Amino acid sequence: MGRAARRGADTLSMPLLAGRLLSAVVLVALAVSGVVFLLGRGDAPRVARLAPIATAAVRPGRSVRDGGGVRPGAHARPAASGRATGPADRLSTAQLAGQRIIYAYAGLRPPSSLLAAIRDGEAAGVIFFANNIVSSAQLRGVIAGLQRAARAAPGHRPLLMLTDQEGGEVRRLPGAPAASERQIGAGPRAAARAGAAGKAAGQTLRAAGVNVNLAPVLDVYRKAGDFIDQYARSYSSRPSVVADLGAHFIDAQQRTGVAATAKHFPGLGPAATVQNTDLRPVTLTTAAATLRVTDELPYRAAISAGVKLVMLSWARYPALDARRPAGLSPAVIGGELRRRLHFTGVTITDGIEAGALAGFGATGPRAVLAAGAGADLILCAAPDPSANTPALGVAARDAIAAAIVRGSLNRTAARAAAGRVLALRASRF
Ligand SMILES: *[C@@H]1O[C@H](CO)[C@@H](O)[C@H](O)[C@H]1NC(C)=O
Repeated sequence: MGRAARRGADTLSMPLLAGRLLSAVVLVALAVSGVVFLLGRGDAPRVARLAPIATAAVRPGRSVRDGGGVRPGAHARPAASGRATGPADRLSTAQLAGQRIIYAYAGLRPPSSLLAAIRDGEAAGVIFFANNIVSSAQLRGVIAGLQRAARAAPGHRPLLMLTDQEGGEVRRLPGAPAASERQIGAGPRAAARAGAAGKAAGQTLRAAGVNVNLAPVLDVYRKAGDFIDQYARSYSSRPSVVADLGAHFIDAQQRTGVAATAKHFPGLGPAATVQNTDLRPVTLTTAAATLRVTDELPYRAAISAGVKLVMLSWARYPALDARRPAGLSPAVIGGELRRRLHFTGVTITDGIEAGALAGFGATGPRAVLAAGAGADLILCAAPDPSANTPALGVAARDAIAAAIVRGSLNRTAARAAAGRVLALRASRF
């Protein structure tokens, strides 16, 4: 949960005096908990583990006893270079690569190859599609089994468990939020309803053990029925409205303990109905100035609201990068998202088997390009969920590991990416 988001909500909903009183109380509470921690009695009662992102176990230079964190001493030594150590420094190359991989499978039971990758510490998380889900209770059982396997991994942390619970037609779990982004954007009290949808999405997911929602969609649609409007997935054609409603969704959802993902950066709003990146290469010739003032605008609000992840689009934007789709582009990820918009959270690709990447080789080479461009997480899933298999994740992991070994992927940058993923896995918000 970003502090900025709390501040924003406080100023919206409270008189100034009450806000200041609250701040004072929070400061006192922080000071007291800091003293307790320094006295070595920081073992506060553990919060019930509803959501698997539930253990704030990472404290520099300190081991943890509750089984939720890294190995004792993993942070304690300075690196030979003198720079501060990170949680990724002691991982094997395969584990370092595995921290970038979101696996997928078909059917109701996770295959043994997925469990093996998890137990070996070579997985960041798992994405669930409709064909993996019968009910909330069934998914909850599957997730409990996967998290059990993760606890057997060296230096383990809870796995990221992802799905698309956008609202309206795009919902993988039965239950809220029923309203689509379009319905929320077009109706009365839109900001309150966007917040209610975010909270409801968080509650639905948390009850099943899912801790990352691949929502909200922040695409600013252009024409009725275009690619992102056809399934009512855009709040508005006005960027300021998308920004405001997206931020309310993110803030409310993340308060439930489920991370939000703003997507699809830098924007699929300009895409025509047939420009579906799952199926074919898509080129959006929008001018850079328009992309920045229209399509990227909602990301400023999302980042201020503390959004944990941003998903990259697979469209190509020649105004930003002449050759590569956004998710393979250092100019888009490093330039637009990190340097211009100052996003410091976790970046994730769209599904690596997308038709949009037809010109970029097999799964392994695609994953290496994405990782090299700055994508922290590679979503190793197919456009047709019945084609999903952990073998996609294994191919991506092995290709990334080999690229690190031969030096075509920079190990320092790989450690930084894995560090961001590990921090997310250890966080509660
Ligand atoms: C490797 O990545 C680090 C961190 O991003 C960067 O500072 C360094 O310059 C890179 N090294 C090479 C050889 O590109």
